[in-house]
Amino acid sequence: MVKVLFATCASLPAGDGDDDAVIDALAEVGVSATWSVWGSDEAADLVVLRSTWDYPDRLGEFLSWCSSVPALANPAVVVPWNTDKSYMVDLAAGVPVVPTLVVSPGFSDWPDGEFVVKPTVGAGSRGALRVAAGDRSTASAHLDSLAGPALVQPYQSAVDSAGETALVFFGGQYSHAFTKGAMLTPDAEVDDSGLYVVERLSGASPTAAQRRVAEDALDAAAHLLDLHRAELLYARVDLVAGHDGAPLLLELELVEPSLGFRQTDAAAPLRFASAVRAALSAR
Ligand SMILES: Nc1ncnc2c1ncn2[C@@H]1O[C@H](COP(=O)(O)OP(=O)(O)O)[C@@H](O)[C@H]1O
Ligand SMILES: [Mg+2]
Repeated sequence: MVKVLFATCASLPAGDGDDDAVIDALAEVGVSATWSVWGSDEAADLVVLRSTWDYPDRLGEFLSWCSSVPALANPAVVVPWNTDKSYMVDLAAGVPVVPTLVVSPGFSDWPDGEFVVKPTVGAGSRGALRVAAGDRSTASAHLDSLAGPALVQPYQSAVDSAGETALVFFGGQYSHAFTKGAMLTPDAEVDDSGLYVVERLSGASPTAAQRRVAEDALDAAAHLLDLHRAELLYARVDLVAGHDGAPLLLELELVEPSLGFRQTDAAAPLRFASAVRAALSAR
């Protein structure tokens, strides 16, 4: 039987539950998928990055392991680019993105209005802080605590009412979408693993404008990485509404996104399984 590993982290040895249906769907089409904590040299026909959410504290180790894996999805070339949220600046040339400044420790020219300071390398909302207009001392103290480069963005207040919309693609083709409630709120709770803030998710039907921006974001990323979109086994495009209501890219997740299988139709895991089969047959 063809063997696939789903890479995770030690504190979530079988993922967070969202991928369970995919494992079953893969078994039905002749692919044995099992969980494996990233960092091992266990052999497989394909290693799929899934819940590797402890990498922000061990980035060098993670990148070198990714480049050592013979067959990785997404491809290893994606990982250094996409684990550093500075990619937002690269995408801004052709895609409407949340205005993003990349700053270094010591930066103090804080924007007017409410804004967010978050690490360039981060996952699960950890290290992201919402700063009230004018609260420069809190922003500076947070930047010092991150001890590295950070992103500064205006807080997109539409998130408070509409959340963000995540559009999921398999093998470069649209699959489904879901919404995620605002994360930087006073009632935010961290999961028992300590690796992510608990999310409030539900299924969604994206608007035409959201689909268009998501398609453009994926094309732009594939172009920058010199890949064909079909080589991206999975992608999640997170959008928020800007001040005028038009969608803006908040994040393009090509490394370890939750894919919202529990928030969508029962055929989504079958589509993912088929994309895995396509990735295997391309090798
Ligand atoms: N500019 C922003 N405006 C509003 N909310 C934001 C902004 N940046 C981040 N957030 C909130 O923080 C969460 C985490 O930030 P994000 O950039 O998605 O990083 P990650 O999911 O990788 O931790 C988002 O899901 C969103 O709720
Ligand atoms: Mg996010």
